[in-house]
Amino acid sequence: MQKRIIISVTLLLLATFRLPVVAQEVFQKEFIEKGRSIYSQNCSPCHGPQMADPQGAFDLRIFPPEQKNRFLNSVTNGKNGMPPWGGLFNKSEIESLWAYVMAGEKKN
Ligand code: HEC
Repeated sequence: MQKRIIISVTLLLLATFRLPVVAQEVFQKEFIEKGRSIYSQNCSPCHGPQMADPQGAFDLRIFPPEQKNRFLNSVTNGKNGMPPWGGLFNKSEIESLWAYVMAGEKKN
């Protein structure tokens, strides 16, 4: 009985990770707006207004949707020329930045 459950869970995991396209996350509008507001005050000087025109910084419009952990890690701890933000923003605020980066400037 337990074996069967383990097998089904394994199959489910395999199926999930073999999907070629990551299902798009759905974000609450207010959560995206919270991220937008944090972004515009803290991130836009380097990454550009509305993520356009990032100059030397990373172009966040092309950040890979399947690498959320990389995003959370880089934003929390910093990366090369980017300062760490973990001391300034809590987890929920950093999650809202993820929501904004993923969904905030979509044209549709
Ligand atoms: C002082 C300028 C500066 C500010 C402000 C800044 N960044 Fe960055 N950011 C950079 C630079 C430069 C890089 C490229 C780092 C590298 O890979 O060498 C970067 C890279 C990134 C990356 C990609 C990291 C990776 O894993 O490749 C993310 C995500 C990111 N920034 C998010 C943010 C967010 C969110 C904010 C606002 C809270 C922010 N940044 C504010 C300069 C900045």
